Amino acid sequence: MISLQLLTSSPNPSSLHTSSPNVFISPQPLNRKTLKPSKPYYKNKPYTTIQSVLQWNRKPQLAGETPRVVVITSGKGGVGKTTTTANVGLSLARLDFSVVAIDADVGLRNLDLLLGLENRVNYTAVEVLNGDCRLDQALVRDKRWSNFELLCISKPRSKLPLGFGGKALIWLVDALKSRQEGCPDFILIDCPAGIDAGFITAITPANEAVIVTTPDITSLRDADRVTGLLECDGIKDIKMIVNRVRTDLIRGEDMMSVLDIQEMLGLPLLGVIPEDAEVIRSTNRGYPLVLNKPPTLAGLAFEQAAWRLVEQDSMKAVMLEEEPKKRGFFSFFGG
Ligand SMILES: Nc1ncnc2c1ncn2[C@@H]1O[C@H](COP(=O)(O)OP(=O)(O)O)[C@@H](O)[C@H]1O
Ligand SMILES: [Mg+2]
Repeated sequence: MISLQLLTSSPNPSSLHTSSPNVFISPQPLNRKTLKPSKPYYKNKPYTTIQSVLQWNRKPQLAGETPRVVVITSGKGGVGKTTTTANVGLSLARLDFSVVAIDADVGLRNLDLLLGLENRVNYTAVEVLNGDCRLDQALVRDKRWSNFELLCISKPRSKLPLGFGGKALIWLVDALKSRQEGCPDFILIDCPAGIDAGFITAITPANEAVIVTTPDITSLRDADRVTGLLECDGIKDIKMIVNRVRTDLIRGEDMMSVLDIQEMLGLPLLGVIPEDAEVIRSTNRGYPLVLNKPPTLAGLAFEQAAWRLVEQDSMKAVMLEEEPKKRGFFSFFGG
C-alpha cells in the first residue's frame, strides 16, 4: 500500500489528488502523438501501484521565457549535482524539450561520464572562445535523445585560461540562443562545489537555480549559504532537491525529515530522491537512471522533479511511502 503525504506548504492541499493532471510520469520514451508510453511494462506489484498513482495524462506546459537558464548547485561536493543535471536534463529531453547541459565543473568534469559521452567530446568551450572551433563542434549530441546536447567548459584536469569567467559563460549562453537550430528550451549548468571563482562563473548567466542537498547538517549549512549568495547575485527563483533520502533512518530519527529540511531552508521543493544503489550502477555504466527499464524509484523521482521544473507554478510535492511488506523498503517521490 502506498500512502501520500503533502510535503510543501501548498496553499490548497486538497487540490492534490492521485488522478490530478499535475501528476505525470514517463518511465519510458513517450509516443510523441499520444504522449503515452507505447506499452505498459510495470510487472511487479510495487510499480503497478505506483503507475496507478502517477498518471501519464499530459505533457507539462513550459512556464517562463526560453531559454530557461538553470544552475544546479549545492556548495558541498558529492551531494548529487551532476547526477541531477544528467537525469533531469534527459527527462526534459524525453518530455520533448530541447536541452543543453553545460559542465561548468572545470578540471573535475564528469557529466560526460555519467551520460556515457566521454569519447565524443573533441572540443570544449575554451576552444570555442579561442576561435579554434565552432560552437556546434563543441556541442555533443546525445545519441539516444537528439534534443539533448552537452557542452564541456574545458578538458579534464586542465586549468581555465586566465580571464575565463562569468562573462565568457554569458557569451556562450547568448551564442546558444542565436543558433540556427533555434534557442534551446533549457540550459542546465552543472556547478562545481564550493563558493569560489568556479561557482561565481557558473551562476553568472543563470536566472534560476536548483539547490541539491542531502539530509545532513553539513550539506544543509552549505545549501543555506549558497542560497544567500544566489539571492545576492539576483537569482530569486531557487528550488531544492533533497537527495539520498532514507525513510528507515528518518523513522528511527537518525535522519532529518524532508519537512524539517524545508523548514530550515525555506525553499520550494522540486524533488525528493531516495538513496538508490541503481544511481551508482547507472553512473558507472554511463547510462542515466531515468533511461532504465524498468524504471527505478530514484529515476521516477528525477522525472517528477523535471516535470515540476517545467511547470513552475505546480510546486506541490508528494511523498509516496510504500508499506514494508515483502520487499521491506520505502520509496519517496516528488509528484
Ligand atoms: N540518490 C542517490 N543514491 C545513491 N547514490 C547517489 C545518489 N545520488 C548521487 N549518488 C552518488 O553520489 C556520488 C556523487 O554524486 P555526484 O552527482 O557526482 O555529486 P556532485 O556532482 O554534487 O559532486 C556519485 O557516486 C553518485 O553515484
Ligand atoms: Mg559534480
